[in-house]
Amino acid sequence: MNDKQAVALEAASYVKDEMIVGLGTGSTANYFIEALAQRQQQGLRVTTVASSTISMIKAQSVGLTVLGLQQLSQIDLYVDGADEITPDNTLLKGRGYDLVMEKLLAKAAKQFIVVADKSKLVPHIGQNYPIPIEVMPFAWQAAKRSIEAIGGTGELRPNVAKDGLCMTSHGSLVLDMRFEAGLDAHSLNAALNNIPGVVEHGIFAKLATTILIADQGQIATRV
Ligand code: 5RP
Repeated sequence: MNDKQAVALEAASYVKDEMIVGLGTGSTANYFIEALAQRQQQGLRVTTVASSTISMIKAQSVGLTVLGLQQLSQIDLYVDGADEITPDNTLLKGRGYDLVMEKLLAKAAKQFIVVADKSKLVPHIGQNYPIPIEVMPFAWQAAKRSIEAIGGTGELRPNVAKDGLCMTSHGSLVLDMRFEAGLDAHSLNAALNNIPGVVEHGIFAKLATTILIADQGQIATRV
């Protein structure tokens, strides 16, 4: 069992009977979906809501019931991976690019458990990846200029497979923007939240309630 599987299995043990569980997107989240399906086979009753079409298809393929967010009045638990995790538990997410649903679920859930291996630990946000910023298609140039005015540099994310631009399932474009080293993620979070045309971005500040980090089979828990 690799570290992503181990941490996903640990997160599945947090699910209680009759919970409504949000499903993240990515390889670690996929392992969680499989672990949850196994618990369902052992008698656990669970309903899920997916953060992306990919995780919805994955969940349905292993027999989980997936409802839409609009059908639910509450979410008990959301489990998702992250691309970067800082010492103060700020996250960078969005390599899978469906940021809006991921942040909606992270915010709506009573508990948000982040599952990751040690490779995701960084001293500051933006260490390994640019910040993904989802923008309305007709406003991308205006939004990009506003982001450049606060120190960002970058481009629209390409869709290499289709020889075009990457588009989210909601029809938005994604700007991958870098900022100078040592940026304050909380100020940047607030600044990005205020730019018209920005639908959502990949900085998840003060949202995780529990972070599970796997390192060579050992799981460390941060709360
Ligand atoms: C998707 C995400 C993923 O959770 C993140 O990319 C981690 O992926 P993986 O578990 O495959 O390492 O934020 O938008």
